[in-house]
Amino acid sequence: MKTVKSIYEVKEYVKELRRKGKSIGFVPTMGYLHAGHLSLVKESVWRCDCTVVSIFINPAQFAPNEDFNKYPRNIQRDIEVLEKEGVDLIFIPGDGEMYPEGYKTYVGVKNLQDRLCGISRPDFFKGVCTIVLKLFNIVTPDISFFGQKDAQQAVILKKMACDLNLDVKVEALPIIREKSGLALSSRNEYLDKKQKKAALCLSRSLARARKAVEAGEKNAARILKRIKAEIESEPLARIDYVEIVDSGNLQSLKQIKDKTLIAVAVFINNVRLIDNIIV
Ligand code: PAJ
Repeated sequence: MKTVKSIYEVKEYVKELRRKGKSIGFVPTMGYLHAGHLSLVKESVWRCDCTVVSIFINPAQFAPNEDFNKYPRNIQRDIEVLEKEGVDLIFIPGDGEMYPEGYKTYVGVKNLQDRLCGISRPDFFKGVCTIVLKLFNIVTPDISFFGQKDAQQAVILKKMACDLNLDVKVEALPIIREKSGLALSSRNEYLDKKQKKAALCLSRSLARARKAVEAGEKNAARILKRIKAEIESEPLARIDYVEIVDSGNLQSLKQIKDKTLIAVAVFINNVRLIDNIIV
């Protein structure tokens, strides 16, 4: 396994893989890896000849009041676990490598980026699209693996790849959860024991919504009300949004239909957590 910091080194490495006719799988991350990230890495290692993982805490997707500076980091441990998974190349660029002085170009996916998480984080998806497009251009993967945990991110990146005629297949893989139901997230690190217990209201409210849908409930307003009541019964929780939308175009739905996305964002103290299910 090779670890590199420069775009030039990645491009040289990829050129060689292409010369040998190898397929390339790519998993972009911000590091502090957990079993959710590793599920994407395992899938890539399984399906592609070579796997590239990037670790880059992308400043462009954090607002000034957000947690860029305190985002958890443990590069040494990340490198060790990726080596065990059989990754071929890790790309760990510095901020100046990705955004040199005078950097000016940003991309976005209109409309899709302005709903759900885009309401409380208005520049977030512009930052995500920009860094992922740059990484796609550097790594030139055949398949890139993302988590359904960030459902809106996956929808937007699929649309970007399609609209910009990128030669990469964007795949979204299932959410990995703790036994308790809590979706794994690097930000869970910010929670103490009591807050972590409170955070179970996200997955619990979604599990109950799934049960209601399975029992025949189709009315979105009624399901939203139940989810909100469940979350609001947790004193440490403050709802950012609860939405029931079409999982393809993220438009709000009045009735549950096939492949409906139910997504929640909730602050536990000041830590913003997201979770979702598709029913
Ligand atoms: P990060 O939060 O590090 O997540 C990297 C990838 O892991 C994303 O595709 C995310 O959806 C996936 N992931 C996180 N938690 C997961 C879980 N519990 N189960 C399954 N997959 C999970 O998402 C980002 O970084 C950034 O926005 C990035 C795409 C790297 C661009 O900067």
